[in-house]
Amino acid sequence: MEIRQCILFLISSALLALVSAQFSFTGDLPPGPYCPMVGCCGGRKDECSKPIVGTLCYCDDFCENRTHYLHPDVTNNDCCPDYYSFCKGIIPPPEEIFAPECKFNGRKVQWRNSVKSNCNLCKCEKVGQNNFEMLCETDVCIVESDILDTVNSDSRRYGWAASNYSEFWGHKLAEGIAKRLGTLEPHRFVKHMVPLRKHYDPNSLPRNFDAEREWPGKISDIRDQGWCASSWAISTAAVASDRFAIVSKGDEAVSLSPQYLISCNNRGQRSCEGGHLDKAWLFFRKFGIVDENCFPYTGQEETCRFPRKYNLIQSGCVPPFGVNRKEKYKVAPAYRLRNETDIMNDIIKSGPVQATMKVYHDFFLYKSGIYRHTDLSSQDRTGYHSVKIIGWGDEYTENGVEKYWKVANSWGRAWGENGYFRIIRGVNECDIESFVLGAWPLTVDPNTKNDVLKKKK
Ligand SMILES: *[C@@H]1O[C@H](CO)[C@@H](O)[C@H](O)[C@H]1NC(C)=O
Ligand SMILES: *[C@@H]1O[C@H](CO)[C@@H](O)[C@H](O)[C@H]1NC(C)=O
Ligand SMILES: *[C@@H]1O[C@H](CO)[C@@H](O)[C@H](O)[C@H]1NC(C)=O
Repeated sequence: MEIRQCILFLISSALLALVSAQFSFTGDLPPGPYCPMVGCCGGRKDECSKPIVGTLCYCDDFCENRTHYLHPDVTNNDCCPDYYSFCKGIIPPPEEIFAPECKFNGRKVQWRNSVKSNCNLCKCEKVGQNNFEMLCETDVCIVESDILDTVNSDSRRYGWAASNYSEFWGHKLAEGIAKRLGTLEPHRFVKHMVPLRKHYDPNSLPRNFDAEREWPGKISDIRDQGWCASSWAISTAAVASDRFAIVSKGDEAVSLSPQYLISCNNRGQRSCEGGHLDKAWLFFRKFGIVDENCFPYTGQEETCRFPRKYNLIQSGCVPPFGVNRKEKYKVAPAYRLRNETDIMNDIIKSGPVQATMKVYHDFFLYKSGIYRHTDLSSQDRTGYHSVKIIGWGDEYTENGVEKYWKVANSWGRAWGENGYFRIIRGVNECDIESFVLGAWPLTVDPNTKNDVLKKKK
């Protein structure tokens, strides 16, 4: 019995809700009943009314006429919400119920409901008396079909092809700039950093070089930073990891922890909202960092659970097998590389380098080829991003021989050429040759494998 009453109640409230949809008053209605308080009237009796949200609703037969005969195209009326059920004993079939809606890309959207159109939210809103329309935000999205189509319609001329990445689809360009990059004020650090001076013969440099081929198994894997603006930490840890592996000849093939920088290097840094490279390298040099196993990447603002003074063992971390390291991983002061050949020379001598580039809208969509920035975006919003240059080469194209850098990004393996991109070399494309850094790793003594930190240049 009780269950039955409960079900009946549920059904009747559902019906009431359906009927109220027909009612033109909007907003949260005070609880009924309305008509039962005054009864129902035949014909027109203005007294058969009840106050409701600042006006009156009616329970006389005339309430239907106000709309049906006077304005046949108008479906809402001023009958009380329970007029049809209480006075007429009828529940209108669902299709007759007035449910305001909008049409959008061939589908129906109910009044006040929203749907997403790429990165913009569109809402069915009431515009004017009885008119409902989809109103959309008008922000620029990361994936804009104009850019995709134009680049891909002539990718030989542009030099690269574009892709619609599902990870970026539905996100605003502003979000991409704020959360997928993450390097602050590169112009500032360059002023304070000493350039490396080394003597070498620029003509002796090879035409092609790839650190992955030169040092197989010693180059760190491509990461996906996620929606955390941590390229400052990821590229720093990646360049240092590679150099530890290369310089130690594999004894210290460690994957260093960018999360340690994100979480523990917080003075003047903004963890998942970007960081300064000079501060990251300074922290690395002074306090050292731990390895990935010890503090894995989550791409979130985790609390630092390692006291700075603790060494590797006290921090609960395990050095590579056969290596007697107690100190955390540290580096000598980072240095700046000034031009194309300096960069090439340093990669050959010491391993991959860190570069900071200006990211324009179209870069997010890069799939393959030799990237150069186009002016296809309607927005000139940009941001700085740090990456890792691992090699170079050249290629015959429609535009002649083109020199490129091979660069590791941190947007996962599914992006670009297996996580890498190539960008035109020697012309400081997107400022990529302006802010290039390297650092020497302080490995354990190669002979004793003991914790003797050596400083080499
Ligand atoms: C409603 O309008 C019709 C047509 O004008 C009229 O015949 C009928 O009497 C009206 N009903 C009421 C209750 O006013
Ligand atoms: C991009 O991919 C998404 C699915 O991931 C799809 O819904 C959308 O229509 C695609 N956009 C373009 C412009 O190709
Ligand atoms: C870069 O700088 C070095 C040292 O100043 C110089 O020897 C070299 O020729 C330069 N390379 C280029 C491409 O300008």
